Amino acid sequence: MLLDTYKRAPITIVAGEGCELIDDRGRRYLDCIGGIAVCALGHAHPAIAQAVATQAQRLVHASNLYQHQPSEQLARELVRRSAMSAVFFCNSGTEANEAAIKLARKWAYRRGEENRRTILACTGSFHGRTFGALAATDNPAYREGFEPLPAGFAFTLFNDAAALEEAITPQVAAFIVEPVQGESGVHVATAEFLQTARRLCDERGALLIFDEVQCGMGRTGSLFAFEQAGSRPDIVTLAKALANGLPIGAMLANERAAGGFAPGDHGSTFGGSPVPCAAALAHLRVRDELDLDARVRERSAQLFAALSELAHSRPELLGEPRGRGLLIGLTLQAPHEAGAAVASARECGLLIGSAGGNTLRLAPPLILSEVEASRAVSLLGRSLEQFN
Ligand SMILES: Cc1ncc(COP(=O)(O)O)c(C=O)c1O
Repeated sequence: MLLDTYKRAPITIVAGEGCELIDDRGRRYLDCIGGIAVCALGHAHPAIAQAVATQAQRLVHASNLYQHQPSEQLARELVRRSAMSAVFFCNSGTEANEAAIKLARKWAYRRGEENRRTILACTGSFHGRTFGALAATDNPAYREGFEPLPAGFAFTLFNDAAALEEAITPQVAAFIVEPVQGESGVHVATAEFLQTARRLCDERGALLIFDEVQCGMGRTGSLFAFEQAGSRPDIVTLAKALANGLPIGAMLANERAAGGFAPGDHGSTFGGSPVPCAAALAHLRVRDELDLDARVRERSAQLFAALSELAHSRPELLGEPRGRGLLIGLTLQAPHEAGAAVASARECGLLIGSAGGNTLRLAPPLILSEVEASRAVSLLGRSLEQFN
């Protein structure tokens, strides 16, 4: 028996193929949530399957007591592509954020700034479920009953540059922000906000952390969302799509931040394990071969246009689509509930997700074809017909 932490849909998924999932009755679903923004190359991609099998036959685990090639190769690739300096591997998004929070505090401590303890986060943020990441998460429902959460966390208004001026005090060790907030309902941080954050962190001696766990790895149309923001973080966290479905998280730090950690400061038994690293390397190779960023931008333009048309045809039901790349949110107007619309879509053969603010969330595989994208919108339209 699984512990009751998820409201699971009443279907049993047994296989996947490209952008489709297949249940135990052989029914096929068009997957427009992609394991919650994870399966960038879709399901059962031969290059990922091959990389996993080959690596599993060679070496599954040796620990971080030793060097091994997949983690070093992957770190080199991520550093090259991000222009960061160093990578810490872990197993999930929340762990990547824990590492970032710990690095920020240790970084300030090593500089002799022992009063610089505060981690500043945004309203509407989601950074994970472990205690540090949860303390930086602005969702009362996720926090309730778990108090006391760790001290030294504060919040500032998302996308309010003037509020940030006030909030980044000399006590702030780091400001953490999602370039696109996913869980709170798909809200894009403005370039002005992210650039102001960069300037203020520089002026006031704090680190800037971008949580790209959901919006990174090509989802917005560039490998890193920050490439489109005109603002570079000191630390960026990744997970979800990095290994196309195998568990891995990564914290990338620039030269300024990386020196905060020394041997013994942080660790993870499984972090950077060879099989997920081999899968991530295969993912990076395939995304280059497919020129995936260009495809994402094309598919995104198609989906935004079609969803906007759908929204205009049902203004009493749907708000304008928002988001970036293939991370798209659509507000469902009350009294209709996103959960009911997700269930109705599923019954029509379309898998989508929900997010905060009664939002329908689409995060399909990045390989979604033009035909699949139009099928997704027509299935969504059909599934909403019963909502009057
Ligand atoms: C922006 C962001 N950060 C962190 C996390 C936590 O990642 P994980 O569930 O892998 O711990 C998520 C998960 O949805 C996320 O969207």
